[in-house]
Amino acid sequence: MIFQSGKPKTVLYFGCGTGILSISTAKLGAKKVVALDLNNLAVETARGNVLLKRVETTVEVIEVDAFNWVTSDADLVIANIDFRTIERLIETPGFLNKDWYILSGMVGTEVDTIKKQLKNTPLLIHTTEQKKTSGLPL
Ligand SMILES: C[S@@+](CC[C@H](N)C(=O)[O-])C[C@H]1O[C@@H](n2cnc3c(N)ncnc32)[C@H](O)[C@@H]1O
Repeated sequence: MIFQSGKPKTVLYFGCGTGILSISTAKLGAKKVVALDLNNLAVETARGNVLLKRVETTVEVIEVDAFNWVTSDADLVIANIDFRTIERLIETPGFLNKDWYILSGMVGTEVDTIKKQLKNTPLLIHTTEQKKTSGLPL
């Protein structure tokens, strides 16, 4: 939706894990993507995937705590981190001055808590819900 309504040129991806969304945003037209994670295995995995998908000129993967990178410039912020971390990031000065956000990884009432937190900001909030779940047969 964001890439249909506007074209974020720069992306900051907190908690990149495998780096999948940095690859997607690069393929969707972002010019510069910084993907970060504090977990070394995640960073190494993301770097490997970025090379595999040949987006290394667009995507930089760095090993750092999101809270040390909050003030970095970007048009779009993606945070696929646990709810408590997202809640704290929103409260951190410098986080809420970007144009677009994709915040994910929340469930149930956590979404309402984040919405309340963002109530007095100029951000327009769209919520999508994924009802499908998968399980491991044991
Ligand atoms: C749900 S996973 C992200 C999965 C990723 N979107 C993917 O599809 O592979 C959350 C990630 O956030 C990272 N993380 C948690 N707290 C963080 C923090 N404060 N700074 C940076 N990364 C963090 C974890 O190491 C983990 O890789």
